[in-house]
Amino acid sequence: MRKKSLALAVVGASIAAAGVVTANAQSDGEQNAETPYQNLVEMGYPAPQEGQLVHVPPTMADLEDADLHPELKKVIRRGYDLFTNTQQLRGKNVFNDMNCSSCHLGEGRQPFSAPVWPAAITLPNFRGKNQHVNNLEERIAGCFAYSMNGTPPEYGSDDMLALSAYHRWLAKGAPVYPDQPIYGRGFPPPDRPEALSYARGETVYQEQCAICHQEDGSGHYEDGEYVFPALWGDGSNNWGAGIVRTHTAAGFIKNNMPLGQPLSLSDQEAWDVAYYMTRQERPQDPRYDGSVDDMLEKFGPTFHKHSSYGDVREHDDHRLADHANWGEKGEEVIPWNVGVPRFEDLED
Ligand code: HEC
Ligand code: HEC
Repeated sequence: MRKKSLALAVVGASIAAAGVVTANAQSDGEQNAETPYQNLVEMGYPAPQEGQLVHVPPTMADLEDADLHPELKKVIRRGYDLFTNTQQLRGKNVFNDMNCSSCHLGEGRQPFSAPVWPAAITLPNFRGKNQHVNNLEERIAGCFAYSMNGTPPEYGSDDMLALSAYHRWLAKGAPVYPDQPIYGRGFPPPDRPEALSYARGETVYQEQCAICHQEDGSGHYEDGEYVFPALWGDGSNNWGAGIVRTHTAAGFIKNNMPLGQPLSLSDQEAWDVAYYMTRQERPQDPRYDGSVDDMLEKFGPTFHKHSSYGDVREHDDHRLADHANWGEKGEEVIPWNVGVPRFEDLED
């Protein structure tokens, strides 16, 4: 099973030439010959709607031809390298088996796979998850702390600067603080079916996912090298990661999995398998301070109302996330970036 060639085929099939258009600009006929993302639409993804911002990020090949300072190009290349091989920061900033590109497919460029460039044009902005205004570095730090079960590189450090430069490069030419909604942003979930089933989800998982991600969700390694990422367990993201929300997982899966066959699951199957996957154990949420009930009091009404955190599992009475296992990160965990007060003296 060759992961790289599969992933590249998906990306190559879907991304056209670089450029920015708004969807309503297409109606003048001139754009039609080169409608961006036409191949995605042919694969069954929604077509850009009138008034949406449609941006096709430049590639690393475009970077070579771009009129940018050679020193900047080096830094962007470094950012790309960190994004697609984040495992090089293992043990320092990353304590699970993921790369950024494990969830942000197509090197962070793929629509409906949470392309990362929107962060570069919409931040700084208020973020509900931590209740203050975040910049691009803090947004990247968030994915390190939760999705990578890690410790973010310091703000302003070489690694952080390189990653932000890569995000910025992908946003090249897109308008800052756009008024329009962004085509393909995030992991948009399919309509939620009336009932979700753990048992049905397990069947989908064993039939369509286990071949790559393993029956026990631990992913697959060959000669110590990551081939397929872990969906749960110590090698996966922790309980604070966005993808533990059932709807986000369903959106990711429907649009991107099984790898190479996106949109092949029914909405019911995508939600059931998301429900199954997000009701398995994983490292503790870094906002935890010793009690699941306290966590539910603080984050139950917002973030964790969308996850299975603290639920008691039907079939074995296991209470999810009721543990102090931080995975490979070890013991020295302090609640990360919670309620950090900022700009308290500013007037309304
Ligand atoms: C386990 C899956 C996962 C991994 C690994 C991951 N992310 Fe994310 N990322 C997400 C989810 C989920 C979101 C939120 C998407 C949404 O809002 O629907 C997100 C959002 C983002 C955004 C904001 C995009 C926007 O539309 O504003 C950025 C930037 C980002 N991630 C960067 C990174 C970087 C850099 C890394 C590696 C250090 C990384 N992510 C690793 C799951 C992941
Ligand atoms: C052909 C192999 C293959 C199959 C089958 C497959 N995946 Fe994946 N999956 C991958 C690869 C590879 C990645 C990482 C993307 C990358 O590195 O390009 C991934 C990433 C993921 C991720 C995000 C990263 C993580 O570890 O959480 C989730 C969630 C996921 N897959 C769920 C599923 C589900 C659910 C199914 C079944 C419906 C499935 N996958 C089927 C290969 C596969």
